[in-house]
Amino acid sequence: MNFNMTKKQTFEDSIHYWNPGKTKQWLNDGIDLIMGKREGYYFYDVDGKKMMDLHLNGGTYNLGHRNTEIIQALVEATEYYDIGNHHFPSTARAQLAKRLVELTPSNLKYTIFSSGGSEAIDTALKCSRYATKRKKFISIKNGYHGHTGLAVSLGNERYSKPFLSEGNPEDFIHVPFNDLETMEQALKNEDVAAVIIETIPATYGFPLPEPNYLKEVKALCERYGSLYIADEVQTGLMRTGKMWGIEHYGVNPDILVTAKGLSGGIYPITATIVSEQVGGWMHEDGLAHISTFGGAELGCAVAMKVLELTASDEVEKNVHFVANYLKEGLTSIQQKYPDFFVGIRQLGVVMGLEFKFEDSAKDVMRNLYNEGVWAIYSMLDTKVLQFKPGLLCTKEYCDELLTKVEAGIKKTVKELAFTK
Ligand SMILES: Cc1ncc(COP(=O)(O)O)c(C=O)c1O
Repeated sequence: MNFNMTKKQTFEDSIHYWNPGKTKQWLNDGIDLIMGKREGYYFYDVDGKKMMDLHLNGGTYNLGHRNTEIIQALVEATEYYDIGNHHFPSTARAQLAKRLVELTPSNLKYTIFSSGGSEAIDTALKCSRYATKRKKFISIKNGYHGHTGLAVSLGNERYSKPFLSEGNPEDFIHVPFNDLETMEQALKNEDVAAVIIETIPATYGFPLPEPNYLKEVKALCERYGSLYIADEVQTGLMRTGKMWGIEHYGVNPDILVTAKGLSGGIYPITATIVSEQVGGWMHEDGLAHISTFGGAELGCAVAMKVLELTASDEVEKNVHFVANYLKEGLTSIQQKYPDFFVGIRQLGVVMGLEFKFEDSAKDVMRNLYNEGVWAIYSMLDTKVLQFKPGLLCTKEYCDELLTKVEAGIKKTVKELAFTK
C-alpha cells in the first residue's frame, strides 16, 4: 500500500474507481479532505493539516484513533486467532457474548454477532419476526438504521427509493418522534413485530426524547404484543454518560444493537443482544442465521478490550466532565450569537448544535473545517451540526476545541451578514 499517494491522485482515482458522486459532493461542500495519519482525537489531512475529530464516525473512535491498548490487544490476538470458523463455538465469541450480556439489561440473554451496524439491525428485525410471527415494523420518521435489506426500509426514502427498497408501506410504518398518539394508533391492531428507535436519533440531529416518551413506547409495545428494539449504535458505549442511552430513560428493550465503537475503530464487529423469547430460534435451528465475519475472533479480542476500557468509573466520570465543560463553553459562545446559534442538544457527549437556517450546519461545518475541526452536519436536518467528542477528551482538548468552534461560528455569522 502506498501511504504517500498525493491528494490530487486520490481525488482522481476516487472519482474514477470509487464513488464519483460522494467525492464530488464533499468537494462542492468545501471539504477537500483526505485523511492521512491519525492519533487520539486528531487526524491529519494527507497534506499535513491537523484536524480535531468531532465526528468520530458516530462513536467508532470513542476511545480515540489507533488507541494503543486496542492495537496491542489486536496484535496479541493475531499470535493465536484469525477470523475463526463461524460455525463452531469459540473461546473468543463465548467470552465476548457473555460480557455483552453482563453489561446489558438483565432480560437480555444472548449475543448474536455481525460485522456491520446495518447487518446487526437486520438481525434484530429478523429475530423480531421470528418471536412474534408478525411482519410489520414501526420506525421513526427521519430515523436511521443503516442500508442493508430490511434496515434501509426503516429509514428516509432518500436511501431506499433509488434502490426500490422502500419496502411494502404496510410493513414499514414511519411515525413522528415524540408522538405517542400516532405510535399507539400504529400499534393497536396488534400486528406489529417491533418498534425500533435510536435512543437519540443521530442522523436527524439528536433531538432528545421527551422525558417519558421511550418508557411509554415500551409500555405500548408490551400492551400490544410488540417488541422494542433499542438502536444504541450511536448512543451506546458510554457516550451519554451511561453505558447505554436507554438507561437514562428506564427502558429495558427486548433487543439492543451495538456497533461502531465496539470495533475500537480497529476491527469491525457489531452485536445484537436479545431476550430469551427473541433468541428462541436458536433452540430450534441455530444455523438458521449465519455470518462468516460476524463474531470474527480477532474482532472479539478487540471488542473485549474496548469494553474493558469503556465500562469504567473513570471513563464515566470523564464523560461527565467533558459534557459539562463543553456545555458551559458552548453556552457562552451561544450567548454571543443567539440569533444564529439557537440551541444545544445534549446528553453526555452526544451533542447537536442547532443553527437558525436550513443548511446552516453545512456552513458551520465548512468554517470549522477551515479552523481545523471536523464535525459533520445532520444529513436529515441540515440546521444541526453533529458534535461528537470522544470519551477520553482532556480539558486542554476541550479548550482548543472551544476556541476553534467560536472562530468558526463567528466566521459563519460574518458570511451570512454579507449574503443577507
Ligand atoms: C443509529 C445507527 N444505526 C445503524 C447504523 C448502521 O451502521 P453501519 O454503518 O455500521 O452499517 C448507523 C450508522 O451510521 C447508525 O448511526
